[in-house]
Amino acid sequence: MAVMSSATDTSPAGRTAGSAFVRACRGQSVPHTPVWFMRQAGRSLPEYRALRAGIRMLESCRQPDLVTEITLQPVRRHGVDAAIFFSDIMVPLDAAGVELDIVAGTGPVVAEPVRTLADLDRVRPLDPAAVSYVDAAVRMLTAELLDKPLIGFAGAPFTLASYLVEGGPSRNHTQTKALMYGDPQLWHALLDRLADITLTFLKVQIGAGVSAVQLFDSWVGALSEADYRQYVQPHSRKVLDGLADAGLPRIHFGVGTGLLLPAMAQAGADVVGVDWRTPLDQAAKQVLGHPVQGNLDPAVLFAPWEVVEREVRRVLAEGRAAPGHVFNLGHGVLPETDPTVLTRVVELVHTLSAR
Ligand code: CP3
Repeated sequence: MAVMSSATDTSPAGRTAGSAFVRACRGQSVPHTPVWFMRQAGRSLPEYRALRAGIRMLESCRQPDLVTEITLQPVRRHGVDAAIFFSDIMVPLDAAGVELDIVAGTGPVVAEPVRTLADLDRVRPLDPAAVSYVDAAVRMLTAELLDKPLIGFAGAPFTLASYLVEGGPSRNHTQTKALMYGDPQLWHALLDRLADITLTFLKVQIGAGVSAVQLFDSWVGALSEADYRQYVQPHSRKVLDGLADAGLPRIHFGVGTGLLLPAMAQAGADVVGVDWRTPLDQAAKQVLGHPVQGNLDPAVLFAPWEVVEREVRRVLAEGRAAPGHVFNLGHGVLPETDPTVLTRVVELVHTLSAR
């Protein structure tokens, strides 16, 4: 799976190797700071809501034409530097046979939570053929995107486990932690299976032509650093190390991870995603040598434009402390966001950062 990046390499990874996004992920010089938004493809866009009307979330993820169109919508509208593949972290679990749904306004709901050794049998390995629609959509997208990178993604083992064990979204992750502390052997067996599923899912996306991957461990900020290192890091490392041969940038992101950033970098990330609570210059010191991604507070987009502009300037200035900076929000675009503000942020980032 080795990836070349010479001028003669016409593969999607080769065509995008000179993009500002991929170069920033590698800590190389860039013409401007690249920018994209987590959850850029989604409910903040009226054209998305129109396309999705009457189609369930998981069903929409299985339709390559629809996935392609939804992925391209924010690229056309905002002029972002990268596309993020339209799918969900629960897609590989659904494809692996776990009974679940994604409920609008709630999130993933799992029919029968996984809490015992017997339950673990329901978490089967992922057959790449069960996500052939992902392979098809990535190929359609890279043919359209040409030299603009497509970011593939997956949920990290801890965040996937939290949905499986809780049975749905959770504030305190009590059941998840009860299993983690109460039956470490079962916990590690579950996370190992989830790491294998995630690895298979990301390899399908890489084989089809994505230019980078992001591993979302959205809820891992619920753990202390010591618990992260003991109960989670080995499994995230299995995923990230398992992709090393591809030679593509690996971004690793979680929310509330100010104290976990060094450990997350050490899990095998190239680029460390940072939420809005940790200034990027502080984050850069913690993950010395790694480019960073982030971290405008998504709620700032609801403030007057002068505030948005001031905050964008601050994030750009703090990002200069790292060897590379990919501008993003500190978490996903909130559904009520005015999309015209997102477009203005892209223009502002490009203008202010032009070298
Ligand atoms: O970023 C993008 O634009 C690409 C698509 C994407 C979705 N989910 C589409 C989606 C990505 C990258 C994700 C990742 C994801 N899914 C994460 C990690 C990122 C993060 O936000 O922390 C998590 C934790 C999930 C699980 C999940 N799926 C949640 C929490 C929700 C929102 C529930 C709600 O409705 O408030 C979903 C559903 C979902 N995934 C939607 C979209 C566009 C909304 C569903 C809809 O439009 O019907």
